[in-house]
Amino acid sequence: MIIMSTFLFLVVSAVIRQANLCLEKEILLLPPVNFTIIVTGLSKVHLQWKPNPNQNPKIRGIKYKVKINTPNEDDYETPRTQSRSVNVLHQGFSASVQTILHCDSSFFQSSWVSAELQAPPGAPGTSAVNLTCVTNVVSDDVSLHCTWFVGKNAPVDTQYFLFYRFDIYTEECQDYRKDSWNRNIACWFPETAIDRKGHGQLAVHVNGSSKQIAIKPLDQLFDLHAIDQVNPPVNVTAKLEGNRLYIQWEKPVSNLPRQCFDYEVNIYNIREDYSKIQKIQGNSFNLVIDPTCKHSLKMRATVHFSCRKNGLWSEWSQSIYVGEDKPTHQTEWLLSVLMATACFLLLSLFVICRTCQVWTKLFPPIPAPNRKVKDLSFSNIYEKTKSGETEIEVISYMEDPGLDNLDDSVF
Ligand SMILES: *[C@@H]1O[C@H](CO)[C@@H](O)[C@H](O)[C@H]1NC(C)=O
Ligand SMILES: *[C@@H]1O[C@H](CO)[C@@H](O)[C@H](O)[C@H]1NC(C)=O
Ligand SMILES: *[C@@H]1O[C@H](CO)[C@@H](O)[C@H](O)[C@H]1NC(C)=O
Repeated sequence: MIIMSTFLFLVVSAVIRQANLCLEKEILLLPPVNFTIIVTGLSKVHLQWKPNPNQNPKIRGIKYKVKINTPNEDDYETPRTQSRSVNVLHQGFSASVQTILHCDSSFFQSSWVSAELQAPPGAPGTSAVNLTCVTNVVSDDVSLHCTWFVGKNAPVDTQYFLFYRFDIYTEECQDYRKDSWNRNIACWFPETAIDRKGHGQLAVHVNGSSKQIAIKPLDQLFDLHAIDQVNPPVNVTAKLEGNRLYIQWEKPVSNLPRQCFDYEVNIYNIREDYSKIQKIQGNSFNLVIDPTCKHSLKMRATVHFSCRKNGLWSEWSQSIYVGEDKPTHQTEWLLSVLMATACFLLLSLFVICRTCQVWTKLFPPIPAPNRKVKDLSFSNIYEKTKSGETEIEVISYMEDPGLDNLDDSVF
């Protein structure tokens, strides 16, 4: 009993003392000491500091306010004497910290202490630019593909190297694609340590080297959901019943359930060169098409925002073809007209030839010097036949004979 009341008395008096303190107009708070920033990984720093050893120990409830100045302004409070920050570091990093106290309705704060990391060295315009990365879930693994452009001031002997960090895992690229100067401009990781569910951030670092100048590194952070490209839908089938086209498919290979996907179907009328794009939820769809035209159709998928923030569309599925090109009445009619014209022309030619031959029989030609053969390099089948008084040369051209040739060879 006595122990209990003594304890209660101590607690109450402590609270009263603190309350009395809060009534004071000025509470002197001293800034923390030994504030340091340490790089602990790609785009990751650890901030730490110590309470000021000269701070009045009677003051309880002391907290710290951390302010990130570079690269992006941010601030937050913490009761701890350390903190972590994920930020790109290629422009340097600077932060400040102060001691604070919320006391009833009053707020007290110390002066700030600051620390910074210098930007890594490198000539302007030498870093990789326009870095883009895409992840893709392939059976049990998440693959990563990144591409970038060479900085406009990067010498031809520049070489770039890419690293990624997800959580505590860091990996260097082993499989680069190169430009014509042999500089790395893309990277492919067939498997990574990246979370299959697509939560969290991916840090990517591209640095480089050259014999001529220092190459500036590039850091970039990606939200995984924003760069995860889902796979296309699978088992897409289509069947035509009359003029109605029925399409069915299954959800892409993914961890996400069936109801998480939205689809887009692209139906292309090949003859009319016209395509129709339709957004669909669910796993089947039907529409009316012109069955006398051949159509190609393909589909792609994306994740619905109810399952996660919108990301990229998948690639298109492989095209499948439906319908067949039946000639319409108009083309049938055109074809008959063309055939009739061709027959008529052939007939006329035949008649003209016969007339010519009669003419030559009546007036045998004076033997003339050899015909001019324009191009002997043609592989002509050349026949010479002697028949009666006239010498007949028959030259059949492999090429389609033009009118000139007809004049020369046929009489
Ligand atoms: C701050 O750092 C100095 C030098 O490293 C050290 O002597 C001092 O004890 C540190 N102060 C505290 C409060 O840890
Ligand atoms: C990089 O992207 C910017 C803006 O999107 C564009 O203007 C620039 O041409 C791109 N650079 C290269 C080398 O493609
Ligand atoms: C590039 O970055 C990696 C990872 O931080 C580092 O190990 C490597 O030494 C750097 N290379 C160059 C050329 O700066």
